[in-house]
Amino acid sequence: MTRETPGRHVFLVGFMGAGKSTVGRMLADLLKRPFVDLDARVEEQTGRSVAEVFVEAGEEAFRAIESETLALLRGAEPSVVACGGGIVLLPENRHVLRELGTVVYLKVTAGEALARIGDVEGRPLLATGDPSAATTLLTAREGLYRAVADLAFDTAGQDPGAIAARIADELTIGGVVR
Ligand code: S3P
Repeated sequence: MTRETPGRHVFLVGFMGAGKSTVGRMLADLLKRPFVDLDARVEEQTGRSVAEVFVEAGEEAFRAIESETLALLRGAEPSVVACGGGIVLLPENRHVLRELGTVVYLKVTAGEALARIGDVEGRPLLATGDPSAATTLLTAREGLYRAVADLAFDTAGQDPGAIAARIADELTIGGVVR
């Protein structure tokens, strides 16, 4: 199931609120690798928050910057990378994810995601006033997360540290990391 090539990136994908950044930081510590938060990279590159980029330039422009930022990881030191929830939308991103690393899908339900996120102000796609936005988006994306992933982990009711430890074990057993 896993492409067992050591020395490549470990990408965390999944819906907003799945815990990609929290788990990713812990996983990076466990694997003794650098941690990269792609949203933070976009913010560094643009000098704006993700929400500001959405408002000022629109989603399409955000996706273009997100893609460029992802592609910049080619040739970078093997890292643990927390991706924005929409990284799987563009086919070229899915291709780059699979080319550059092992993809780990953190599964979360729409309800649990919203409960974890709390204030949706920083998540422009959820701050629409439509209470079913999370369910609609997650339903549309679920197949893409599954298709791109080498491994998938349920996060429901689980401690981020325990999830990170399970991922680290699986990656080590699978020979993905040493
Ligand atoms: C998005 C998820 C966000 C951020 C942007 C768009 C999405 O990242 O990239 O708001 O389309 O799901 P997180 O998944 O880290 O919240």
